[in-house]
Amino acid sequence: MTTQHITVSVNGEAHEADVEPRLLLVHFLRDDLGLTGTHVGCDTSNCGACTIHVDGVSAKSCTMLAVQADGRELKTIEGMASEPTLHPLQQAFWDQHGLQCGFCTPGMIMQAAWLLAENPDPDEAEIREGISGNLCRCTGYVNIVKAIQQAAGELSAAESAPVVAAGTVDGQEVSAEPAAAG
Ligand code: FES
Ligand code: FES
Repeated sequence: MTTQHITVSVNGEAHEADVEPRLLLVHFLRDDLGLTGTHVGCDTSNCGACTIHVDGVSAKSCTMLAVQADGRELKTIEGMASEPTLHPLQQAFWDQHGLQCGFCTPGMIMQAAWLLAENPDPDEAEIREGISGNLCRCTGYVNIVKAIQQAAGELSAAESAPVVAAGTVDGQEVSAEPAAAG
């Protein structure tokens, strides 16, 4: 069977593989790389459960072939944060009860992350439009919208917090992390 050699970066890690030209990107991620946080919820490109970032842009990975990802940088839900830390969106979905079964959640979070990267202060209508390609079959959208609003506030606060230079001030060690919002 004909295969094509691809090289992709996934969550900052380089991967090479020989794949069939017909292999969908979502199946490459799940079955070849074991990144099962990216879900398959439909066969019509409607549900958004498979949403990832391709070169920083939100994309439904069931609508791409693995060979189309050759040379690109991919991010999946597994790359959003390292345990035990949660990404602000993950924490906000937890805090606001933005999930029940959780099947839609990885795709919802990847879509929301892209939405907030494009528009850090969206209003409710913009959030609802931004996630309109992602379906949740059990929660409804009220708490999902609240979660995205919470994360938007936290991400903007972190962004605007003064950055403290690493070094020593008055004999005290300080880090280069943004100062915590008060
Ligand atoms: Fe439903 Fe990709 S699996 S849109
Ligand atoms: Fe179940 Fe969204 S939480 S599909």
